[in-house]
Amino acid sequence: MKLTSYPFISFEGIDGSGKSSLIQCLYDKLIQLGHSVWLTAEPTSNQFGKLIQEWILYSETPLTPQEQILLFTMDRLQHSSMIRSFLDRGYIVLTDRYFDSTTAYQGINEEDCLLIQHLQRDLFSDRIPFLTFLLDIDPEISLERIQRGKDQFEQVAFLTEVRKRYQKIALENPDRVIILDSRQPLEILEKKMWENLLEKGLFMV
Ligand code: TYD
Repeated sequence: MKLTSYPFISFEGIDGSGKSSLIQCLYDKLIQLGHSVWLTAEPTSNQFGKLIQEWILYSETPLTPQEQILLFTMDRLQHSSMIRSFLDRGYIVLTDRYFDSTTAYQGINEEDCLLIQHLQRDLFSDRIPFLTFLLDIDPEISLERIQRGKDQFEQVAFLTEVRKRYQKIALENPDRVIILDSRQPLEILEKKMWENLLEKGLFMV
């Protein structure tokens, strides 16, 4: 199987949507086919990613949405340089979350959306994923799956809004974002993902 385009793919969805399992399937298959693949995620494990993880897990004083936007963006700036360097070296890059996560999770009001759009346009317009798989699912089901619901992002009401913002992103970016109905079994999701990868011309058999 040959690579035909810019091989940068992101996976998005609310917590418990099954992104990690699907991305792992794709990673395993691509490695099996002999490709060089970098599997990565946001928040990262770099300095800013660690700060984010600490804040999500332990914070007693919540950050404002704008502080969150800036922190996730700092993490992404470092991350996107690494992504660029892997792409330049011929790797396929698969990322579990990228800038759509900030739009979906932090784009709560018009002011915050404008800040996010502005940052994305200025900082990441040359590092847009070729394809984004959005795993769409009802938060009631996803939270049941992960049996969590502890941190501030894992609440049904909040995730219902996040889900709506993801659906809006998909509507606005029909060429890039593919919605997969995440209630389906992993084998079906994997099959549909491959149909899209081939159809969009990312791989040629
Ligand atoms: P993580 O613990 O990796 O959760 P998951 O396995 O569901 O991806 O991510 C931590 C949380 O960070 C997750 O609830 C989504 C949130 N997040 C944002 O709010 N904004 C962002 O820009 C990113 C990348 C993540």
